Amino acid sequence: MPVLVVNVDHIATIRQARMGVEPDPVTGAHLAEMAGARGIIVHLREDRRHIQDRDVQLLRETLKTNLHFEMAATGEMQRIALKTKPYMVCLVPEKREELTTEGGLDCVGREKILSDFLTPFHESGVRSSLFIDADPRQIDAAARAGAEYVEIHTGHYADAAGHKERQQELEKIVSGIRHAQGLGLKVNLGHGLNYHNIFGFSKVSGIHEFSIGHSIISRAVFTGMAEAVKAMSDIIQNFVE
Ligand code: PXP
Repeated sequence: MPVLVVNVDHIATIRQARMGVEPDPVTGAHLAEMAGARGIIVHLREDRRHIQDRDVQLLRETLKTNLHFEMAATGEMQRIALKTKPYMVCLVPEKREELTTEGGLDCVGREKILSDFLTPFHESGVRSSLFIDADPRQIDAAARAGAEYVEIHTGHYADAAGHKERQQELEKIVSGIRHAQGLGLKVNLGHGLNYHNIFGFSKVSGIHEFSIGHSIISRAVFTGMAEAVKAMSDIIQNFVE
C-alpha cells in the first residue's frame, strides 16, 4: 500500500509571515504523525522563506517516523543534509523567484554531477530521490545517476484544465511509473495533489509514497491538522498496492 508523507513547509509559511514562533511546523509534524503520516517532508530553501535550519534540526531529533529532506543540489544544502542525516534526500530544482517548485529536475546530461553529489549520501546510508517529470529520458538519466527513488512530478496532472488533459497527464505518469520500475527505481509521487485529484491514482500499483503538503495544510486551517491528515491517510489506505 502506498503511504502518506506530509510536507509541513506551509505551516512555516504562515509563521514567517510574522517572523515569529507560531504556528510551529514541528508541532504540526508531531500532530501529523499522530494522525497517521508515515513521514514528514521539509524543503529548506536557499532563501529560507519557510522552513528554517532550526526546524530541520528539531524534526530530526524528535520525529518518530522519518524525515524527508527536499533540497537543491548545492554545496550548502549538501553540508546541512550530511550533518542532519535524514531518512531520504530528494533533489529538486530551485529558483528564487518561483512560488513553488515549478517542474522536475533536469537530469539529462548531468548524470555524473548528480551521481557525484549523491555518493556521500549513499555512503552515509541516506536514501536518495530525484524529483523529475514523467519523461522517459529524465527517468533513464535518474537511473544512470544512481538514485534509488524518483519522485514523479504530478503538478501538470493537478493543473490540467479539463478531463481529457488530466487523463493524458495521468497516462504519462502511469507510463513513467512503469518505466522507472523497469529500471529498478522506486517511485514516489508529489506536487499539487489534493483530496479530489488523488483518486486518479487509486488503481495505480507500484507507488511507494505520496508527498502532499499544501492541500493538507489548507484543510488543517479549518479542521485542524489531525483531521486533515487522517482524511488523506484514510483515502490512500484504500488504494491498490
Ligand atoms: N514534492 C516536491 C518535490 C515538492 O517540491 C513539493 C512542494 O514543496 C511537494 C511534493 C508537495 O507539493 P504540494 O505542497 O503541492 O502538495
